[in-house]
Amino acid sequence: MDRQLMCVTCGSTYPLEEQRLRCDCGGLLDVQLDMDGAQSPAALAATFETRLSSRLPQDLSGVWRYRELVLDLPPGDVVTFPEGRTNLYELDPSPLGLSALWAKHEGENPTGSFKDRGMTVAVSWARHQGARALICASTGNTSASLAAYGARAHLPVFVLIPEGKIAQGKLAQALAYGAHTLQIDGSFDDAMHTVEQMAATHNLTLVNSLNPFRLEGQKTIILDSFFQLGRTLPDWIVVPGGNLGNTSSFGKALIEMKALGLIDRVPRLAVVQAAGASPFARSAQDDFRHFQPMEPETIATAIRIGNPVNYDKAVRAIRFTDGVVTSVTDAEILLAKHDLDWQGIGCEPASAATLAGLRRLMRERVVLPGESALLIITGNLLKDPDTTIALATGQTAGLGIPGAASLDACANEPRHVPSDPETIASIIEEKLQ
Ligand code: F0G
Repeated sequence: MDRQLMCVTCGSTYPLEEQRLRCDCGGLLDVQLDMDGAQSPAALAATFETRLSSRLPQDLSGVWRYRELVLDLPPGDVVTFPEGRTNLYELDPSPLGLSALWAKHEGENPTGSFKDRGMTVAVSWARHQGARALICASTGNTSASLAAYGARAHLPVFVLIPEGKIAQGKLAQALAYGAHTLQIDGSFDDAMHTVEQMAATHNLTLVNSLNPFRLEGQKTIILDSFFQLGRTLPDWIVVPGGNLGNTSSFGKALIEMKALGLIDRVPRLAVVQAAGASPFARSAQDDFRHFQPMEPETIATAIRIGNPVNYDKAVRAIRFTDGVVTSVTDAEILLAKHDLDWQGIGCEPASAATLAGLRRLMRERVVLPGESALLIITGNLLKDPDTTIALATGQTAGLGIPGAASLDACANEPRHVPSDPETIASIIEEKLQ
């Protein structure tokens, strides 16, 4: 299918090959698909499902398997691990009174977050275009993902991160995969502003979600869920919101799936932000008439973002899906994380905002009993060991979270025992009582 860049604000178009991140009017750009030449929904679905039995690298990828709706590239140009082969788990819906509840675990991607789905597309396209070097700002996961894909593509990588504000697992990944890691005094928003300016002036390829190719890859979270659920989608799709890349790409996926005839009914998006970093939720309260950036603060460092670059695309996604935006406290996030962790699912704090947000939306009777919901678990538990251990050892008071006392029940402290089988056996028997 033919593609071009199209401004979401004024509709101007540009050739795909033009190295630009914004329209001349300053608006965000979409990779726009020309659907005229599209196969029928049945033929398209059959193509995607047939590839499940192929052993070709681009078919093994849960992103490139859907390449008709992602990007056409010669197979040799694709930089893949492969990514996107994530599971969709059934959770017990009864405590919430839902008819069904699922979790799509994007933490099962090669570098442990959903970013890999977008990064494989952005890095493949960059290499195809002869990029000199790759750069991003990051709260951690984008830098980890870019570092890995850049290494695989043999391209130099520069990452800008807010010093002291990214989880240890993510920092370890960026360093280990060989990225040039630059820590700044300032927030993610400051770093984002800097890299956007530098990309233009220094011939660097920016791979944050401002890069529309990233969002084409992230659409496959929705496509994958659709096929894993037997060609259907639930009433609600719940996703954490930071820079609003996922929100934007989910909206675009659903617009295209509807236009192609893959779905008739559009599920509603529920975007969940941390209360201390909730400019989108605040803007939603007056139907997006005003937007006010904020100084962000939250334990969920992945979504510690006060000025999301994808705002306009995210508003489009909420409007198209009749979606909602809410926010939750850090204490609610950690309680939800504990509850997901204890089901063996496990995630980093930002991902648990989904369950916390779903609970809040049910209390407010926005999501109703009997409806179905899919939680997008965006990042792996091992990304943020410090917060996980603080929660398990009852140290959350030290994290400066209001309401932390309510989290004491989440503790599961390691216990020092003598190396003596009898004592250990008696502890085991006591626990099994
Ligand atoms: N969950 C996780 C685990 C993330 O790493 C991010 C974003 C989000 C949710 C929010 O997604 O930006 O699409 O709304 N992390 C970025 C980063 C900003 O730099 O790693 P979004």
